[in-house]
Amino acid sequence: MTSPTSISSSYDRLRHVMPKAEWLSHAADVQAILELKRRRNAVILAHNYQAPEIFHGVADIVGDSLALARRAIEVDAEVIVLAGVHFMAETVKLLNPEKTVLIPNMDAGCSLAESITPADVALLRQAHPGMPVITYVNTSAAVKAASDICCTSGNAKKIVESLGVPKVLMVPDEYLAQNVARETHVEIIAWHGHCEVHELFSAKDVRDLREAHPGVTVLAHPECPPDVVAEADFVGSTAVMSDYVGNNKPARVVLLTECSMSDNIAIENPDVEFIRPCNLCPHMKQITLKNIRAALEENRNEVTVDPAIAQRARTAVERMLAI
Ligand code: 13P
Ligand code: SF4
Repeated sequence: MTSPTSISSSYDRLRHVMPKAEWLSHAADVQAILELKRRRNAVILAHNYQAPEIFHGVADIVGDSLALARRAIEVDAEVIVLAGVHFMAETVKLLNPEKTVLIPNMDAGCSLAESITPADVALLRQAHPGMPVITYVNTSAAVKAASDICCTSGNAKKIVESLGVPKVLMVPDEYLAQNVARETHVEIIAWHGHCEVHELFSAKDVRDLREAHPGVTVLAHPECPPDVVAEADFVGSTAVMSDYVGNNKPARVVLLTECSMSDNIAIENPDVEFIRPCNLCPHMKQITLKNIRAALEENRNEVTVDPAIAQRARTAVERMLAI
């Protein structure tokens, strides 16, 4: 949340999801990071999957991939630390070429981003001449540069329909593409990438959850397989799920997504019972308070984008943001 000012007032927000002793074990790093942010004129952007001590303890801006990209443009700071995965940091750098962008751990990747290369996109274009390529933001800058426009899980249908064509290529998330295809008349040709977190959920999981927890509201991320989405009550990006819980206050809810989501939302919704069969993203969990602190102290892990691809990648992201 925005600039927490003291360790103890921050703990009031966290008491539902973390024992005080655990929070106090983070206190020295939190205090050091708050001071470093002031000293270096830095802000921390954190994705919704970051652990609560990061999300609620030190982040200035939090959100889904779309919100982080949008808010990155407005940031008035010299240094931006991206608490999330590498493709998100690259997107922030594309939109802020003059700023120093740091990622606390360079190894924080993504199974979707790793599933496709620019050469794959070139082959797809050869196989489907003239068809526009929509690239999910969960890709490298080089893949974005090879595409026409980006999308996130929060705007994918809108982007597909904005192009005014009957057929599009949408890479690399096969399940996101199939889930969007069910909602539109535009024909979508997909790639075979999957999110290693969301692909683990099954339709049987949803049925078992409903049997074990009668009345539970099931929210699914669109990176889940289509049969999971079909059994869910509601589907949306991490920000859309968060808004759904905040606006509808279901008595019991399960979020079929990464584990930290429920923790972060539970803090805002103490009266909602969260059932928690979740999957950890090993990449998101590479980010810790300790490596955020080290990145700021030592200006470690600066993210750069090859100028030869940056302009084309930026254009694909900016086209998305304009819609
Ligand atoms: P959103 O926050 O855009 O829904 O993305 C989810 C995700 O898996 C990011 O890596
Ligand atoms: Fe990638 Fe999935 Fe992890 Fe998001 S949750 S970073 S899509 S592997």
